[in-house]
Amino acid sequence: MTPPAAESLRERAIAVLRANDRGGYTVPSAGLYPFQWNWDSCLVALGWACFDEPRAWQEIETLFAAQWPDGMVPHIVFHRDDPGYFPGPAVWATGRRPASSGITQPPVAASCVRWMLERAVDREAALAAVARLFPRLLAWHAWFHRARDPEERGFVATVHPWETGMDNSPAWDAPLAAVVPAPDLAPYERRDLAHVDAAQRPTRAEYDRYMTLVQLFRELAYDPAEMVARSPFLVVDPGTNAILLRADRDLAQLARILGEKEAEARIGIWIARAEAALPRLLADPESGLWHAFDLRRECRIPARTHAGFLAFLAGLGDARLAATLDHWVDTTRYALSSVPAGDPAFDRRRYWRGPVWPVANLLIGRGAQERGAEKAARRLRRDTAALIAGGGFREYFDPLSGEGLGGACFGWTAAVWLAWIDQPGRDRGPDDWSDPLK
Ligand code: GLC
Repeated sequence: MTPPAAESLRERAIAVLRANDRGGYTVPSAGLYPFQWNWDSCLVALGWACFDEPRAWQEIETLFAAQWPDGMVPHIVFHRDDPGYFPGPAVWATGRRPASSGITQPPVAASCVRWMLERAVDREAALAAVARLFPRLLAWHAWFHRARDPEERGFVATVHPWETGMDNSPAWDAPLAAVVPAPDLAPYERRDLAHVDAAQRPTRAEYDRYMTLVQLFRELAYDPAEMVARSPFLVVDPGTNAILLRADRDLAQLARILGEKEAEARIGIWIARAEAALPRLLADPESGLWHAFDLRRECRIPARTHAGFLAFLAGLGDARLAATLDHWVDTTRYALSSVPAGDPAFDRRRYWRGPVWPVANLLIGRGAQERGAEKAARRLRRDTAALIAGGGFREYFDPLSGEGLGGACFGWTAAVWLAWIDQPGRDRGPDDWSDPLK
């Protein structure tokens, strides 16, 4: 790809973020996702940080303004209602102001904040923002460890596939199949299918179970202890756990910078516990991958998904995992497919069951690069660049043809371009490797 093309893509990426800006927060994609999503916003802030630092900090602060008193940060904030989305605020009925959902999402915030601080041109403003955000970040991490790991076993539990951010991943098939759809499930009409072809979205059977879980949590008044005790879906997600461990490391670094010694010691305990527990629970010697674990059935889940490679981001993952990644990237024309081609669960167009997700590539690519799996990391970045250059700022991509799928003008895809692919001022095309997240 030539530098001029890359330049115009930068302008187009900026235009996507500006068009999705609703004043203080960025919607993932107008129409399909008209509210503020938790991990989208944090990753989108990385994109804003490339051309408007104050707006980037504002994105994160707007998200944390919706933090619950117990520290939980919801997965969706409904700043204003939009009848075009289901399930909206009336279904969640959490009674919060601003209105929000009652579950969370992978905690990428602290890692994004650290990255934004390190690259900030206006360091003074960045440090002030970090000082404001630090207690809130700490409270969210403390909530995760307390509410989702009450026995201090070193891993956090997830109560709904939506919390993993990888909604219909084949890893959730078995635990979700065990969720019996509520006989009194309120009738509902999906709105996502008005925007995207049904073949690229989760199925009705999955939605009935997603909604059954939401109905249960609403009946439990979103009490965290009750949710963990009663949810028929209870898993250890390698993605969420790896992201949390990485975020704990980044939060500890922020604590050091701010001189928050007590907090740093507290975070150190979480890190040590996770380092001891995660490889033992999740790394599978046979597949050479990290897998999800089903806490209800007490077994590792055999499904193979790209989430297992997030171990790299956590500073874990060994040569065996790197070899698995090297093999996986070669199963498709464009890497990294969310499920390896050839796997029975592989579905090249259906959401988290095959397509390539730029945001997953960024997180896995960054981790792989840091852990020395450079060849695969370079491939992920180059393929991400080619997919976006060829297919636009789409939600996800067909790993065999490169076709763009799902929502269009997607916020975090634009942010991936700005923060990972584009190298402003360095005269580098996407074929050259350098890690802008460093
Ligand atoms: C879907 C994705 C989730 C994302 C949201 C908004 O639900 O699975 O990861 O946060 O859309 O983009």
